Amino acid sequence: MVAIKALKSIWLDGKLVPWESAQVHVLTHGLHYGYAIFEGLRCHSTPTGPGLFRLPEHIRRFLASAKIYRMKIPYSQEQLERACIDLVKDNGITDAYLRPIAFSGYGEMGLDPTRSPTQVAIALWSWGAYLGEENARTGVRASVSSWTRMDSRSLPPQAKCAANYANSGLAKMEAVAAGYDEAILLNSAGMVAEGPGENIFRVKNDIVSTPPASSGILRGVTRDSVIQFVADEGLIFRRSDFTREEMFTADELLFTGTAAGITPIREVDGRAIGTGTYPITQKLQKRYDDAIHGRSKQYAHWLTLIR
Ligand SMILES: Cc1ncc(COP(=O)(O)O)c(C=O)c1O
Repeated sequence: MVAIKALKSIWLDGKLVPWESAQVHVLTHGLHYGYAIFEGLRCHSTPTGPGLFRLPEHIRRFLASAKIYRMKIPYSQEQLERACIDLVKDNGITDAYLRPIAFSGYGEMGLDPTRSPTQVAIALWSWGAYLGEENARTGVRASVSSWTRMDSRSLPPQAKCAANYANSGLAKMEAVAAGYDEAILLNSAGMVAEGPGENIFRVKNDIVSTPPASSGILRGVTRDSVIQFVADEGLIFRRSDFTREEMFTADELLFTGTAAGITPIREVDGRAIGTGTYPITQKLQKRYDDAIHGRSKQYAHWLTLIR
């Protein structure tokens, strides 16, 4: 685990402040009750300067998460997009992970978050491949979690709320303690949902599938990009549920996410997946890599270039 290295500034409640000054009180409401919604997006170097990948989509999901939680964000889509751009420029960085977050701030305690002021921040730091650079090539070892993914009757998975990540954290810790790299969570119907911070895809007989949004997942922006890549590769795509045993018999399995990128899964619960080669995953990785680094005209509209 690499500690976060301090950069120059953080955007906090409408302005850029020095990194060290971006502080909150220990009685910040959201810290106690998990009432915070957040995003994760990346900026990469391109031949024409740093480029934010799918910035409008990430900010749209941020505002949708806030809406689900009755959180009033005092900034517009445009203002938040601008704030991300200003932050990257101010820190003079080309490759970074950006973390917009809104939370119930210091005000009142008790379970009604609307009685505390909403605070909004955007931080960024340098973050390599979440599941490891090497693993992105060779694949990760995953285990099916004993924890069930929470569903929209309890905590809506389509809102990227901090509270959801207590469920993710339980699954992640269990997997790591058992010697695996990552967990795979089933939903309350026993079907495959997603990883703690990634969506999942299955390849079988050249057909690519991923669980539908109704299976209790976050609608990933990377998932959406991969669905497009699958179509552009001329492969058949299905939004369909699959079972634990259909993972064991897959030709390829892969995680997708802003933090993890596109990472093949080489083993699930001691069963090797496919032949240990990832021909389709590699094609999708190549498209993704070209898209995020501004090497593809086809996906150039997904980049917000910072000049
Ligand atoms: C639970 C969960 N599922 C899926 C994803 C992948 O989403 P995205 O591709 O938008 O990063 C993430 C990451 O944000 C996540 O936390």
